[in-house]
Amino acid sequence: MAATTMATAAGAVLLLYYALSRRASSIAEEEDSTVGGDYSESKSRSAKKRKWPIGDLAFGINYLIRRQELAEARKKKRKKHYSLEQAISLFEIFCFGVCPRLVSEALKKMKGKISEIASSHVSSRVLQVFMWFHRTCVKHCSQEERNAVFVELRPNFIAMSTNTYAVHLVTKMLDNAPKEQLAEFISSLHGHVASLLRHMVGSLVIEHVYNLGNATQKQALLVELYSPELQLFKDMVTVKETRLVDIISKLKLQKSSVIRHMTSVLQPILEKGILDHSIVHRAILEYLTIADKTSAADIIQQLSGLDLVRMIHTNDGSRLGILCVKHGSAKERKKIIKGMKSHVQKIAHDKFGSMVLVCIFSVVDDTKLVSKIIIRELESNLKELILQQSGQRLILQLLHPNSTRYLTPNDITSLGLSIPSLSNKATPSPYLLLCTLFISELNDGEAVEEEKKDEGDGVDTSILLNEGGKKDSLKRRQELLVNSGLAEKLIDACCEMAGDLLRSKTGKDVIYEVVTGGADGILHPTLDEKLNMLYEAIASLASEAKVDEQKEEHLLEQFHSSRTLRKLVLDCPEFASTLWEKALKGKIADWVKGHSSKVVKAFLETSNSTVKELAKKELQPFVKNGDLSVE
Ligand SMILES: *[C@@H]1O[C@H](CO)[C@@H](O)[C@H](O)[C@H]1NC(C)=O
Ligand SMILES: *[C@@H]1O[C@H](CO)[C@@H](O)[C@H](O)[C@H]1NC(C)=O
Ligand SMILES: *[C@@H]1O[C@H](CO)[C@@H](O)[C@H](O)[C@H]1NC(C)=O
Repeated sequence: MAATTMATAAGAVLLLYYALSRRASSIAEEEDSTVGGDYSESKSRSAKKRKWPIGDLAFGINYLIRRQELAEARKKKRKKHYSLEQAISLFEIFCFGVCPRLVSEALKKMKGKISEIASSHVSSRVLQVFMWFHRTCVKHCSQEERNAVFVELRPNFIAMSTNTYAVHLVTKMLDNAPKEQLAEFISSLHGHVASLLRHMVGSLVIEHVYNLGNATQKQALLVELYSPELQLFKDMVTVKETRLVDIISKLKLQKSSVIRHMTSVLQPILEKGILDHSIVHRAILEYLTIADKTSAADIIQQLSGLDLVRMIHTNDGSRLGILCVKHGSAKERKKIIKGMKSHVQKIAHDKFGSMVLVCIFSVVDDTKLVSKIIIRELESNLKELILQQSGQRLILQLLHPNSTRYLTPNDITSLGLSIPSLSNKATPSPYLLLCTLFISELNDGEAVEEEKKDEGDGVDTSILLNEGGKKDSLKRRQELLVNSGLAEKLIDACCEMAGDLLRSKTGKDVIYEVVTGGADGILHPTLDEKLNMLYEAIASLASEAKVDEQKEEHLLEQFHSSRTLRKLVLDCPEFASTLWEKALKGKIADWVKGHSSKVVKAFLETSNSTVKELAKKELQPFVKNGDLSVE
């Protein structure tokens, strides 16, 4: 008996190999007939044909199926607990790998057994192959066939969602599902959202669906976490009410009962550490908008620690991180920072995670600890950090804090959040969180990023955050940036990478702030000597001769660098002087056209009056003869 099965398996593998090598050789065509040569010798029949051996294959498969069925029928008689997956997997893997058209056949064979197969781990792999196949070979598999699978699985959705293996099929299936099926799946979850979310495996499905769903569907999942009544009257909730407070007032729910219900839902989730999901982040955030002082403080205490790192990669998670930093006690802040140890680089490079670090820089008074853990780790990879969009925000926050030039509206909203019941301010702050949340809802997403002013001429209004530390903010920055040694390393990095930074869309802001000495002149006078070296470094790059066949555009002519240099000439008198002396004096004729003319013209308005006079004299003739246009 065993021998028969072995022979079947061996036969299948052989045939598979054969078919694949046939395909390979037909692709390679005449080039190399020795590919699979061994096989064409042993199977002389195939050597004659150069076509896809579909006839052979069908024959072979039928033969194999019959043999296997026979063998299995016999086996079944003998063994009571015969496992279905053995019967199917070999055949299916074989089919999917070789001949797409046989999938329908496979489907027929599996009919009525799919959820059983999906729940056992061996064949759920097979089903994954099958689902993959569905996606890539839509031509060969009809929508009807896919619908049939969906319909067959429907009664088992909840059970499958908590099965370690079947969950893969469920998520794969949802990825490819048409809208109606997704909607149907979501309504089948109705009444089970909270319990699934408490389940390690089940929570994966909820999160998956939450990410796939549209706003209405997201909301439908969330409201089940708010109140048991909403589970019954789900249809009452329309998409217009997205905030929990609004839902409470619209549906005249009892706030205390919502708090009670949410506590009972969220507590087990927190205890089990199911913290990676964005739906959980959103639910906790909403909970904090209504929670009383004690419950809110309790949540902050529970989240502040190692686990916070797992949450701050989503927008809502990062907001929770910010709230923990702001409302946490000194002890909790310490735990948060220590929990970030050895993850700092990763957090810094994350769009949302980096905002928690920005917040730490703004409010934590224990600068020794922040330097020791966060600054040290950032320094280890400073060059990469200042060229990366999220990473550079941290450096910019120290150089020029709370700037709307460098932070997006969404960032600013996040930094401005506070928990109503824990807010120090007696006045209307209960609504602040809610209002700002609402604003951010409107601004959510990438669109905001696009709006960020590219040119430096944007208005820079600094914002005020809510719950700061006790320390003077300039002193805190001084300690974090200058005393920690970060600034020195930063200037070194800028010297080394001046050209790259000036030419890069993301790097130019950092070098601009460093050259100008940061807000409040934070780098002066301690680092003046080093800054002079940086001015020299930039000026010497700018003084390079203009060669047509250069690999990189000249610093004075490249789009970003010319604009940044222009701004620097306007804003930084020391730099204007160095650049004039080293790079432009006597060479104006080369630079009066194109992007570089912006730099040249800036000297007519520079903040260094000595240089301004010198430049005026030299530029006058070019203005007169019309080479340099000043409007
Ligand atoms: C979300 O999808 C459901 C089902 O497809 C649909 O009825 C609803 O109108 C959609 N809502 C939005 C806001 O697109
Ligand atoms: C930036 O925000 C923090 C956080 O509240 C605040 O303490 C600080 O004063 C602000 N900095 C400036 C320069 O406005
Ligand atoms: C302005 O330029 C002059 C001449 O290059 C230079 O000596 C002086 O130090 C500059 N002024 C400032 C404030 O840097």
